[in-house]
Amino acid sequence: MLTKEQLTSYQQNGYLVLEQCFSDEQMRSLKNSANKIVTNFDPNSTRSVFSTEDHSKTRDDYFLSSGDKVRCFFEEDAFDQAGGLKQDKSLSINKIGHALHQLVPEFKTFSHNNKIKSIAQDLGLQRPQIHQSMYIFKQPKIGGVIRWHQDASYFFTSPLSVVTFWLAVEDATLLNGCLQVQSGGPVIPLKEQFLRYPDDSTELKTLHDMPWPNDDCSKPLEVKKGTLVVFNGLLPHFSAPNLSDKSRHAFTLHITCANTQYATENWLQAEPSLL
Ligand code: FE2
Repeated sequence: MLTKEQLTSYQQNGYLVLEQCFSDEQMRSLKNSANKIVTNFDPNSTRSVFSTEDHSKTRDDYFLSSGDKVRCFFEEDAFDQAGGLKQDKSLSINKIGHALHQLVPEFKTFSHNNKIKSIAQDLGLQRPQIHQSMYIFKQPKIGGVIRWHQDASYFFTSPLSVVTFWLAVEDATLLNGCLQVQSGGPVIPLKEQFLRYPDDSTELKTLHDMPWPNDDCSKPLEVKKGTLVVFNGLLPHFSAPNLSDKSRHAFTLHITCANTQYATENWLQAEPSLL
């Protein structure tokens, strides 16, 4: 399905933007399904937020045992000082993770469709397997920042093989915090590794001290809904906070090659699904 030019571009840049890959109808169906999960979610069942800063024990238990479940995580700015939600729960969830591709029919069907499979194979993933799925809301006004990182830090394999499939369920713009990737410049080796120890403590270990790219070396990927962005696990990327009044929904899959060795120290040890 991918052309020679697209593959060359992926190899040179570490990412590829596939516009109009999926239909508005497919995006509507994923969005409805995600909204249904939020409707059925009891906001008093947890106060777990998704944050790169918060390493509290409560957050870790809820997060670390979510690899084979469907769980909602709050935005960091969802709560007021008294601990209550500042707005309706439907506008307070940061993301749903991490086994939508296995447990929710609409996401399961979508994740295993032939288009995803053929793109994965074209990108060189032999025996591609899905480890994780996330539905990300990037809520209006409070959608949090995601700092520079590389996804292979969380899905370490030997050799490295993880590819991220990032799908715009809604239009993504600079205003609502679109994905931004490193544009040009030297590719840095894996800079961090997120480790989970046998006692379930975790560490984001720094592997070298080469700096992250400057923000002015980033390329904002402003894309229409239905666009699929694929990028390799070493590509530095980030997204700015969403200060606009429009959400920026996205669905992501993390796919590795089953022929590579998946690290036992990775936080997520749930059984992957072969594509
Ligand atoms: Fe990422």
